[in-house]
Amino acid sequence: MFENFVVPNHLKPSDPRFGVGPSLIPLSSLDALRKTGNSLLGTSHRKDAVRKLVKEVQDGLRTYFKIPAGHEIILGNGGATQLWDMLALGMVKKSSLHFVCGEFSEKWYKAHKAVPWIKAEAIRVEYGQGINPYEKANFDMICCTLNETSTGVMLSEIPKLQGEDVLLAMDATSGAGQIKVDFNKVDFYYFSPQKVFASEGGLFIAIVSPKAIKRIEAINQDKTRYIPESMRLIHAVENGKANQTYNTPSISTLFFMNEQIKIMNTLSEDTVISMAKEKAALMYGWAEEKTYLSPYIKESKFRSEAVVTIDVDAKYSVDDLAKVLRAQGVAIDIEGYRKLGRNQFRIALFHNVTKEDLKKLTEIISLAIETEK
Ligand SMILES: Cc1ncc(COP(=O)(O)O)c(C=O)c1O
Repeated sequence: MFENFVVPNHLKPSDPRFGVGPSLIPLSSLDALRKTGNSLLGTSHRKDAVRKLVKEVQDGLRTYFKIPAGHEIILGNGGATQLWDMLALGMVKKSSLHFVCGEFSEKWYKAHKAVPWIKAEAIRVEYGQGINPYEKANFDMICCTLNETSTGVMLSEIPKLQGEDVLLAMDATSGAGQIKVDFNKVDFYYFSPQKVFASEGGLFIAIVSPKAIKRIEAINQDKTRYIPESMRLIHAVENGKANQTYNTPSISTLFFMNEQIKIMNTLSEDTVISMAKEKAALMYGWAEEKTYLSPYIKESKFRSEAVVTIDVDAKYSVDDLAKVLRAQGVAIDIEGYRKLGRNQFRIALFHNVTKEDLKKLTEIISLAIETEK
């Protein structure tokens, strides 16, 4: 299907990378890295050049998110996936409650469930639905996912926890930077930078409240709990204070993230968010207007403003169309999340994906389907 479809030149987007991660890194960031010559890559992460870069990242995020005083910004290797295990070992006392609405929140739950001393419980909704977190007695950590990348569901509300010894942890991997969060309500907010922050994988960044730091310190003192040295959260906390990571980071990853933070700081978080909202309105509006399309997420308050998922009438194969668009270098990585098994487009609304390019993509897809009819 669609094998004879040729994308007209005037509809070709400026960049084919519409994928939800790794995401579009601006070519200007690649040029900027090249310009650092021999002054950055290949130098020690314990010395000034890299530490200055880490500090710039931390300061830039502080400005962008308007982070409350007292919160630490920490970084470490391994990305969000590794952090799930680190959090289980180093931040849960006895019990964690997980709000599961897709594959990533499920994986986080399973990581905790596998630890023999943790009582982990999942509150699930069917995929395609959203759920906001809430507190429940006898759980010392509430785990939620700001933006479920697999399904395109975002949180619409975050509770202010009442329990003195309860922490709220949030996987913000694909929402960070583009979905507003009140940092006074979140104790451990983390993300990998290969989404809105337009860098590469392998790193995690976390914004950590004083209450969470206390918990991490207390668990670190517990001599009865074995935690592999490389998995100790305390190392990230201590190294973060010194603008470092516990072990050697990818310097280019830090560099690209810093470039992106600078780009977004020239606009401010509010502007970036309002641009994301405009793009979301364009995409969901299109999906509602066309008879052969429908937004996968039915309840509009849960429709993601970072990752849009659109079901397509079974008559038109998304995989076939995606293959044709990829082959023509027009759009890459727009298929739905494999495991969902739906005839679905999943498209990033990340900051570097422009509204103009998204508009063109909608016109390309409409043209392809309407000429196939
Ligand atoms: C919401 C969410 N959490 C966690 C991850 C895992 O991140 P990483 O591959 O950096 O470990 C992803 C990756 O796409 C994600 O989207």
